[in-house]
Amino acid sequence: MEKFIVRGEVQLCGNVRVSGAKNATLPIMAATLLCSGISVIHDVPYLRDIQAMQDILTLLGAKICRQDHTMLIDTSNVCKAEIPEHLMREMRASVFLMGPLLGRFRKVRLSYPGGCAIGPRPINLHIKALEKIGAIVDESYGFIVAEAAELTGGEVNFDFPSVGATENAMMAAALAKGTTIIRNAAREPEIVDLQVVLNKMGAKISGAGTDTIRIDGVSRLFPAEHTVMSDRIEAGTFLMAGVITRGDIVVENIIPEYLFSVTDKLQDIGAQITAGSDYIRVKAGELRGVDIKTLPYPGFPTDLQAPMLSVVTIAKGTSIITETIFENRFKHVDELTRMGAKIKVEGRTAIIRGVQKLTGAIVAAPDLRAGSALVLAALAAEGTSEIEQVYHIERGYENIDKKLHALGANIIKV
Ligand code: EPZ
Repeated sequence: MEKFIVRGEVQLCGNVRVSGAKNATLPIMAATLLCSGISVIHDVPYLRDIQAMQDILTLLGAKICRQDHTMLIDTSNVCKAEIPEHLMREMRASVFLMGPLLGRFRKVRLSYPGGCAIGPRPINLHIKALEKIGAIVDESYGFIVAEAAELTGGEVNFDFPSVGATENAMMAAALAKGTTIIRNAAREPEIVDLQVVLNKMGAKISGAGTDTIRIDGVSRLFPAEHTVMSDRIEAGTFLMAGVITRGDIVVENIIPEYLFSVTDKLQDIGAQITAGSDYIRVKAGELRGVDIKTLPYPGFPTDLQAPMLSVVTIAKGTSIITETIFENRFKHVDELTRMGAKIKVEGRTAIIRGVQKLTGAIVAAPDLRAGSALVLAALAAEGTSEIEQVYHIERGYENIDKKLHALGANIIKV
């Protein structure tokens, strides 16, 4: 199993360009199933989760090829609407295939997406949305079968602004007869990117980015070409790497507005933030503790809770971080404690007492974002750290070791 070896206490300096967004690419890849023909997606990152989605689409009959960061997806021969259990378990995002397969084939069979390290991953909101536009859903023997003689527009009111359920509803409703209104929709930028692609394919969707999305169904959709938005979570992670190492980093290829809740908290911690139209610069200062609560967009993103927690382990004073989105998203805490952090977890709240410094240790990445938190801690720690199970980290960060090395980090993968 590969691991990172990191020698800490190096200030990171320089420019880094973030890759295309994993969480925009995955639903967009699924959306290509709504039509027949060759779609072209640019700025697709090389990530394990993207490969997993590629494997599923290929198994369904799609032909996919990659030329550098461009992906061509030919869905002309897609004829299956059943996803095998082992692939469903491999990646939660396979649930995004429900909407497109139901929209195109009026039937889909898949097993429950496995839970994952950050907590149970129910899909009740996904199912509720599909039922509201005419699907009959049977859940038995660990499988879900959704079918509809016809999809008809309806009113979808979410109890919680679920990102995936919003995206599934948009994709299924795009080919329904009539108008669908989604209320309490998730507002993440990745949903706006999906709306752009679906409208390029011929859909009639408006309102993405707000809490109400309108979809006027059409009879057919067509292949499209699109450049994926950049990854705001990767960008935030690199900003935090600059802060925790007391460096000076320019993160390029990012829309600053997407990270306002994050840069605001970094300023509260004591970092200096400047920004242009497509970059954010961070210069570290004396770090002081802050209180953070994760929320749906535009609140502080749950995907940056773990790396931010690493940053506050060496900030003066006490910080309180509350995780409101997922049940079990503090798996980085035990590993950070091995590096000398002082953290107490009570339910969904972590109380962090800042320490002078962390010390290098042998740690293991328990999941994607917890893994990124350990990388940041190792960059700041005195001495050498070994981070095992880096495959978790490579699910969501393209060449993170090479990008950090280019900023001066002493990191190698072995
Ligand atoms: C997306 O997951 C992202 N993944 C996650 O990023 C991200 O953390 C999450 O949105 C929140 O921003 C992708 O886009 C591929 P949700 P998703 O549905 O759609 C509950 C990463 O690290 N819920 O908004 O699964 C659920 O249990 C990943 O890149 C229901 O109860 O998130 C959770 O507590 C991790 N019923 C909360 O809502 C449902 O039917 C948020 O889930 C669906 C969700």
